[in-house]
Amino acid sequence: MNIYKEKDYAAVSRRAANIISAQIIQKPDSVLGLATGSSPIGTYDQLIEWYQKGDLDFSKVSTINLDEYLGLAANDPNSYHYFMNKHLFSKVNINAEKVHLPDGTALDIETECNTYDSMIGSLGGIDLQLLGLGHNGHIGFNEPSDSYTAGTHLVHLSQNTIEANARLFSSINDVPRKAITMGIRSIMFAKRILLVVSGADKADALHKTIYGPITPQVPASILQLHPNVSIVADEAALR
Ligand code: GLP
Repeated sequence: MNIYKEKDYAAVSRRAANIISAQIIQKPDSVLGLATGSSPIGTYDQLIEWYQKGDLDFSKVSTINLDEYLGLAANDPNSYHYFMNKHLFSKVNINAEKVHLPDGTALDIETECNTYDSMIGSLGGIDLQLLGLGHNGHIGFNEPSDSYTAGTHLVHLSQNTIEANARLFSSINDVPRKAITMGIRSIMFAKRILLVVSGADKADALHKTIYGPITPQVPASILQLHPNVSIVADEAALR
């Protein structure tokens, strides 16, 4: 694991954006695995700034997002579709046909999950997967469990995650209890992984991710087995 210790969130965002932009410059038709949450927003802002300056071109890039809440339509302000449009897609020259997120409104969830895995395969897998880290060590919505799940699947969110994500909803009762998430196989098959972490509240989860035993109880700990992981974290998260 390459660990980049940065001063604060702004420096984490600049470093992560540097790594992503290098990927796009070296391979303009890169397949980027993207994440939601507060952690990558600064990274997206920096990428947008460089795009506006003319230094980045997203026209050939494909994207595959990690997850989506079950039951939320793309135009729901709390959906991850909406988040990605707001924080990145609407602000760069990405081709809407090359953007992929699980459909939270799919009637047949099993088919939706299988289709998502086939789509990842047909794009040749992920070149660079951006990840945030849940307080309980989750990646995407792969929650602590007795075993890892390989493929895209339906997940019941843990109480911890529901509480952590409630800040973005008008009431905790509005937080969906289920989500569709990419599985551990697609994440681990990414050629490169970039984990961005910020804040003292993530320090315990990050420490277990890097130094703890590899266990599905701390889903991110499996990243120890990946040959090309970069962790970009601020001083507060990296104790
Ligand atoms: C959600 C997302 C994860 C994200 C996590 C942490 O649960 N599904 O992909 O990493 O939140 O979010 P934040 O960066 O806001 O702490």
